[in-house]
Amino acid sequence: MSRRRVVVLGATGSIGTQAIEVATAHPEAFEVVGLAAGRNVDTLAEQVEALGVRRVAVGDRDAAARLRAHAPHLEVIDGPEAAATLAASDADIVLNGITGAVGLAPTLAALEAGTPVALANKESLIVGGDLVVAAAERAGGRASHLLPVDSEHSALAQCLRSGRDSEVLRLVLTASGGPFRGRSRQQLSDVTAADALEHPTWSMGPVITVNSATLVNKGLELLEAHLLFDIDLDRLDVVVHPQSVVHSMVEFVDGSTIAQLSPPDMRLPIQLALAWPERLGHAFVRCDWTTASTLSFEPLDRATFPAVDLALEAGRRGGAHPAVYNAANEEAVSAFLAGRIAFLDITHVVAGTLEAFTATGPSAPRELDEVLAADRFAREHADALLHRSAAP
Ligand SMILES: NC(=O)c1ccc[n+]([C@@H]2O[C@H](COP(=O)([O-])OP(=O)(O)OC[C@H]3O[C@@H](n4cnc5c(N)ncnc54)[C@H](OP(=O)(O)O)[C@@H]3O)[C@@H](O)[C@H]2O)c1
Repeated sequence: MSRRRVVVLGATGSIGTQAIEVATAHPEAFEVVGLAAGRNVDTLAEQVEALGVRRVAVGDRDAAARLRAHAPHLEVIDGPEAAATLAASDADIVLNGITGAVGLAPTLAALEAGTPVALANKESLIVGGDLVVAAAERAGGRASHLLPVDSEHSALAQCLRSGRDSEVLRLVLTASGGPFRGRSRQQLSDVTAADALEHPTWSMGPVITVNSATLVNKGLELLEAHLLFDIDLDRLDVVVHPQSVVHSMVEFVDGSTIAQLSPPDMRLPIQLALAWPERLGHAFVRCDWTTASTLSFEPLDRATFPAVDLALEAGRRGGAHPAVYNAANEEAVSAFLAGRIAFLDITHVVAGTLEAFTATGPSAPRELDEVLAADRFAREHADALLHRSAAP
């Protein structure tokens, strides 16, 4: 594999810092040429110095000004479009580790420039939907230009190498079940943000950690799998697997199931996405098959965690419904983290916003503006519902 020039978006976050660790471990394979962050310029300045990067993007203008003062020779792009501008610059691969729908524009910008995207920011695919898929096809193809970083989709991409598309019966995504696995709805009524942020197997940023507690994350991942692998929603399943060692499985038509296993560590899927389709000869962690261990599987409690079925319903309604599901959830999660609403209110707000959007009789968005209008509608409607849910 020739050496790849990598741009890391969301460099200061959980995925971004691990991506830098992967790139640094393989100087023969990767050179980091650009970094983007939101506002954490202290960490960004350390990364710039360690990697010798000369071009960065910072979303927050005041933070960008502080970075310029600290490093006058650095090229600093700033403002809301900064990450997208950096994503469109000359690179061999862009890793998108930004959180939230704000990651959409950089994903589209990289693809429009013909650059493959190692995609952790699942929201950009869900919000952008057909627009992102079409941009990937124009750039050279979905399988070569939208490279999954999510461990489940990385597992699916690896398992799919075992057979032809026509031999695939269904894709089965595993879910750890999050910190509240086994609890009833009544037991969830008074859980706090601190409880939701205690994930049993993964260490991640705050939004995806809360999304794992509500199972919204699994809903987003089903929609992501549907778009990445071009497979009907009714051929996607979820099974709860608390150890997070089996990352997902593909069931083939002859009854054979192929699974991918590794310890819960994002550096493997990040490394694979950056080097795809190659495997680099270096393991950060491995399964130890010489010691006793148990892998268990159980059905998803769909009544206690309705977020998965809500996502599937949003996917079936199609158009901008997945974007609305995501935007309403982003607003609700931020209110929950700020202590303004209860845990169970999150999915109530998402469900109510989806119903309100369906009632507007929307058509499928053909342009980015239409997607962004749906996103705005969802945030405004969710905010109104949040005010009603908020404790006095
Ligand atoms: N963490 C995981 O293990 C994991 C696993 C699978 C998928 N994912 C997905 O990966 C994405 C990132 O998750 P995370 O856990 O790494 O989140 P995180 O730790 O919260 O990091 C988010 C990153 O996005 C940056 N950012 C926010 N707004 C920005 C903007 N306008 N322009 C540029 N950068 C901006 C943040 O910068 P500042 O820090 O400077 O604000 C930070 O670097 C999410 O879509 C998540 O669902 C994560």
